[in-house]
Amino acid sequence: MLLGVNIDHVATLRNARGGNEPDTILAAEVCELNGATSITTHLREDRRHIKDADVRTLIKTLKTNLNLEMAVTEEMQKIALELTPHSVCLVPEKRQEITTEGGLDVAGQLEKIKCFVKPLLDKGILVSLFIDPTEEQVEASAATGAQFIEMHTGQYSEKFGTKLEETEFVKLKNSALLAQSLGLKVNAGHGLNYKNVYRMHEIPNLYELNIGHSIISRAVFVGLAQAVKEMKDLVQ
Ligand code: PXP
Repeated sequence: MLLGVNIDHVATLRNARGGNEPDTILAAEVCELNGATSITTHLREDRRHIKDADVRTLIKTLKTNLNLEMAVTEEMQKIALELTPHSVCLVPEKRQEITTEGGLDVAGQLEKIKCFVKPLLDKGILVSLFIDPTEEQVEASAATGAQFIEMHTGQYSEKFGTKLEETEFVKLKNSALLAQSLGLKVNAGHGLNYKNVYRMHEIPNLYELNIGHSIISRAVFVGLAQAVKEMKDLVQ
């Protein structure tokens, strides 16, 4: 399994004081040097962490690939078509949320997503849809033309270690198998940490995990290089 590291929280810390510390570009480089196979950033409508200039510089400087998380809006589509990141991951976005809550409702807006995805695919950008692990969302995702889904592991992470862990895990496993049978590649992410990530190995052929908060949190104590290395060891 590959490890994509989400560096949004480095930008959150930087923005707390203005200026350029900690430097997001340097953070991305350290992640890459220690095993990250891609760097993920979420350019939010309110630009609360990553800014446009970060994305532009990352695209030029990364040795691996940029996975740009973004909402299904005209503004974001325009930015993606101009900057052509390696991949985009379409996520739902609510202004007041602390982080992405729930997956994108692809089934409920299939035609809209199809139209949104087409010009991105035509430009050669890989498209991933961040969805809840349900049959309905997986089947709809396969009908959009996107090559990837990213399964939302938030519920699994939240229920980890409780009676409901198995129920949430089975949803992930079944959704991954269904998606793969429909020709989709499957990523996963949200809420994964050093304790709960190991069960992702029980899901066959997961392509990449995208992990942010737990790595940046661990980095406070052991440094970013070590935090990424430790996660890489668990994921690989
Ligand atoms: N994948 C997606 C689509 C996300 O929105 C996020 C959170 O920004 C993540 C993965 C990473 O989640 P976490 O920070 O909890 O590891």
